[in-house]
Amino acid sequence: MSNPSLLILPGDGIGQEVMAEVRRVIDWFGAKRDMQFDVSEDLVGGAAYDKHGVPLHDDTMAKAQEVDAVLLGAVGGPAYDDLDFSVKPERGLLRLRKEMDLFANLRPAQCFDALSDFSSLKKELVAGLDIMIVRELTSGVYFGEPRGIHMEDNMRVGINTQRYTEAEIERGARAAFEMAMKRDKKLCSMEKANVMESGILWRDVVTEVHADYPEVELSHMYADNGAMQLVRAPKQFDVIYTDNLFGDILSDCAAMLTGSLGMLPSASLGAPMENGRPKAMYEPVHGSAPDIMGQGKANPIACILSFAMALRYSFDEGADATRLEAAIEKVLADGVRTGDLLSDENSTAVSTSGMTDAILEA
Ligand code: NAI
Ligand code: MG
Repeated sequence: MSNPSLLILPGDGIGQEVMAEVRRVIDWFGAKRDMQFDVSEDLVGGAAYDKHGVPLHDDTMAKAQEVDAVLLGAVGGPAYDDLDFSVKPERGLLRLRKEMDLFANLRPAQCFDALSDFSSLKKELVAGLDIMIVRELTSGVYFGEPRGIHMEDNMRVGINTQRYTEAEIERGARAAFEMAMKRDKKLCSMEKANVMESGILWRDVVTEVHADYPEVELSHMYADNGAMQLVRAPKQFDVIYTDNLFGDILSDCAAMLTGSLGMLPSASLGAPMENGRPKAMYEPVHGSAPDIMGQGKANPIACILSFAMALRYSFDEGADATRLEAAIEKVLADGVRTGDLLSDENSTAVSTSGMTDAILEA
């Protein structure tokens, strides 16, 4: 059997710096755990624009469709801010998500004990926090028609449409129930069924899918209450399933409970391929961080944790994913910190590669 394949798209700014560290982690797994990947690397975002005049070349798109998993760094930066909308670096990312049909966005919010002081919430509210938000990623109000800005009675009107088919709600719900089965078997679905018909359908379909997962304890919550509960008592949740718009906001909110952007991974999954693996892209939540690029200051953990998610969700290597996460936990407990994880000016930070050194050692 051939080795599992990985396409690495470092992108721009610190995307390139943190992805170089992930390659060291991949090499470590090859050398120490005899886990071999066929790794190829290509351009996305501004880097692709510089070379090809588009933020994602068709050949790269075709490669992404064929590999077992895509790892992406980050895209964008001030050099590309004035580009036409159609060739902006973000368009490369959106094209990947859309053409690979990555409908389930997994955003974990996990609080490492050593960083529980770092949260904006009280330590006891976040210590041990471990939740997973499953956000529907390919439909809803960001895509629904009609949309646009037009004139009505001499006045500009802005329109977006929240539109969900039951098939779209259902496939995301299945991904969320599957996730709940692998975790604490507790799923909370969030919508606004009190004021939105699409929310009523959402609640109905999720309840129907629940019949196939009787072991999972299902609850429903209005998304505004969900926002309150996330900052009041986040540990009440295990898996949350919500739509594209609410998920965008709630996942950013949940993520910040845990401290720094430099710590947050994500996965976007689609339908299973012929080999049974889901179409998949893994990426840190953070952007290209132009303010710190080229200085060896970027925290590589978000990107390394994204690779851990790839091990778990694409390659069925959950034990090795846990091994990698445990190494990160240990290093943080030992007090190793990149600059973004320091609140006190007197402590010293390690560099991007210094953090990876410590993780590989652990
Ligand atoms: P950003 O996430 O790049 O940076 C926000 C702040 O967090 C900065 O102060 C940065 O130094 C810090 N930070 C981010 N990641 C870090 C890490 N790994 N280690 C240490 N510190 C870290 O967001 P910003 O500044 O709004 O956007 C910068 C560029 O990135 C823009 O061009 C934006 O469009 C793009 N962007 C790309 C994303 C992606 O590729 N998925 C997501 C968000 C922004
Ligand atoms: Mg967002």
